[in-house]
Amino acid sequence: MAAVDKGEFTFAVVTMSDKGSRGERVDTSGSHIKETLLENGYAFGNYTMIPDSIPVIVETLTELADKQRVALVVTTGGTGVAPTDVTPEAMQQVIEKEVPGIAEYMRLESLKKTPHAALSRGKVGIRGATLIVNLPGSLKAVRENLETILPLLPHALEKIRGDEGDCGVIPH
Ligand code: MTE
Repeated sequence: MAAVDKGEFTFAVVTMSDKGSRGERVDTSGSHIKETLLENGYAFGNYTMIPDSIPVIVETLTELADKQRVALVVTTGGTGVAPTDVTPEAMQQVIEKEVPGIAEYMRLESLKKTPHAALSRGKVGIRGATLIVNLPGSLKAVRENLETILPLLPHALEKIRGDEGDCGVIPH
C-alpha cells in the first residue's frame, strides 16, 4: 500500500491566548506545533493568535474550515477550567462530528505523565473536510500530546478526505 503523502495535507495553527493576542506573551506552543508538523511533512497553511473569546474562536475556525479548507487545524490553549477557558464551548458550535476517541487517547496518555491532564476539556472534531484538534496551552502539554497523535493523523486525514482504503492493511 502506498505511503500517505502528508504534503497534500495543509495545516493551520491557532493559539488561544488573551495575553498573546495583546503581544504580552511569546507563543512558544504555537511555534512548536508549526515546526513539528512541518518536520513531519505537512504543508503549512496558516498561523494565528486570538483571544479567548467564543465568537472570535468560532469565526476563526469556521473560516479555516469553510474558506481556506485546510485539512488540519491544531489549536493550543483555553481547554482548562479557568473562567477564561472557552475553547471547548466554541468547538461545540463549530464541529459537525465529534471524534471523542482522539481526545480520550490524548488524555489517557497524558494522565500517565500528570494528573493535571484531567483538567483539559479539549475536543477533537470534524467540520467539512477539516479535522480540528484542541491541545492544552503549555509547551510541555503540546509536546506530549503531539507525540501521542502524530502516528494516527495520516490515516485520520485520509479517511476524512474520503479515501476508501482498507483499514486492515494500514501499517501502525
Ligand atoms: N497534558 C499533558 N500531556 N501535559 C501537561 O503538562 N497540563 C494540564 C492539562 N493537560 C498538561 C496536560 C494542565 S496543568 C491544564 S490546566 C490543562 O491541560 C488545561 O490547559 P489549558 O487551559 O492551557 O488549555
